[in-house]
Amino acid sequence: MGESVKIRYKGKVIDLPVEEGVMGEKGIDISTLRKSTGMITIDPGFVNTGSCKSAITYVNGEEGILLYRGIPIEQLAEKSTFLETAYLLIYGNLPNKKEFDEFQNQIIHHTMIHESAKAFYDGFPPNAHPMAVCSAVVGALATFYHDSLDVRNKRHIEISIHRLIAKLPTIAAFSYKKSIGQPFIYPCNMLDYCTNFLHMMFSVPCEVYPISSVISKALDVLLILHADHEQNCSTSTVRLVGSSMCNLFASVSAGIYALWGPLHGGANQQVIEMLQTIYDGGGDVKKYINKAKDKDDPFRLMGFGHRVYKNFDPRSRIIKKICDDVLNKLGIHEPLLQIALKLEEIALKDEYFLERKLYPNVDFYSGIIYKAMNIPINMFPVLFAIGRMPGWIAQWKELQEDKEFKIGRPRQIYVGPPKTDYVPIEERDG
Ligand code: SDX
Repeated sequence: MGESVKIRYKGKVIDLPVEEGVMGEKGIDISTLRKSTGMITIDPGFVNTGSCKSAITYVNGEEGILLYRGIPIEQLAEKSTFLETAYLLIYGNLPNKKEFDEFQNQIIHHTMIHESAKAFYDGFPPNAHPMAVCSAVVGALATFYHDSLDVRNKRHIEISIHRLIAKLPTIAAFSYKKSIGQPFIYPCNMLDYCTNFLHMMFSVPCEVYPISSVISKALDVLLILHADHEQNCSTSTVRLVGSSMCNLFASVSAGIYALWGPLHGGANQQVIEMLQTIYDGGGDVKKYINKAKDKDDPFRLMGFGHRVYKNFDPRSRIIKKICDDVLNKLGIHEPLLQIALKLEEIALKDEYFLERKLYPNVDFYSGIIYKAMNIPINMFPVLFAIGRMPGWIAQWKELQEDKEFKIGRPRQIYVGPPKTDYVPIEERDG
């Protein structure tokens, strides 16, 4: 019998088993709590609540550690590629050459979307936010692929995986082209994943956009860094939708919407807008640090803070290095980077931030690199979604294969009116 905790309530003592993870983290298994006490737990935002056991990603927020299937993010960023990391996350191991070539070949040959799907873009206004467009078109893939909606059919899941990883860059680039009134650029199967995306974003029928290898390599590393992050808001959304045995397209479509929120993946767009505001206002960094600390001011230092990391986000350290590297290689002097560095320098000496363990997170520097790549600001969260796609898929697949699979259905404590009777309208006040 392993460790357990005892709850004493109204003279009754119950034992709750303690689960221990591979890295020593512990959780109290409360799956028998309501049956044995009639009570539930309450934990707004699930700050203290684990939703599942997972073998995909490990984050140690106190020490700033991030592992994908046990491999440190620093090693994957240096030595792997996004598609290889996607395979690792989804299938649980680094692929051998045959496995990788087959996976990559499947992705390459699913990059086009159904010609009828292009009509969706005519219905969106030109100023539609690309996250709304991407979620809508990804969700609509379920209307085309009736051959891959059965979540208990391994073949259906396999082809959905290939379609989603392959098609999101195409869907995203098409949303950008539509917004600027340029014709869609089809994927080119001769190009690698990131170069192909940049080609679809920036080439035009009359000339091919010369893509710098510095940019496509930097983008590949950024996608690796965004690929998964345990049970974050959007991944938990994908799992919850998938827990009703809903297909992968619909589950990921919901995840894209959750990621769009400014507190989550939408923060990378908010960071650049914040830096631009500070720059346009004369660069008074201290004024914004004080605004962030002011309880009466809704302003938050976007790109700072994290639910789990109470130390540096290891991804932020790597992205900061890529930022320096890309700007130097492209010969770009980016004033917003200077503002960001100043903000970080001041915040990390300030008691308010130190006390609350608020450090730069994955979104703080990424937008500066995207800006250097000429990616439009409203597309920044879309790049986060392209990166997070393999993580969403891996987590959804793990859920479907989980022997403890259950539909997600949290409980609540009711705080509404006590039982009351219906009042006919003629007897109501007013
Ligand atoms: C992502 O979960 C993941 O793994 C997410 C992610 C992933 O890979 O999937 O890492 C990606 O979403 C990164 C986070 C991007 N969001 C932002 O950068 C938005 C700005 N940061 C926050 O709003 C906030 O830090 C959160 C949302 C990230 C975390 O919020 P929590 O854990 O609910 O913490 P909290 O809001 O309760 O804050 C604790 C305290 C509060 O002050 P007190 O009530 O104790 O006085 O810290 C303060 C907050 O006011 N605080 C901030 C702040 N973040 C927290 N104060 C100023 N600026 C900030 N950025």
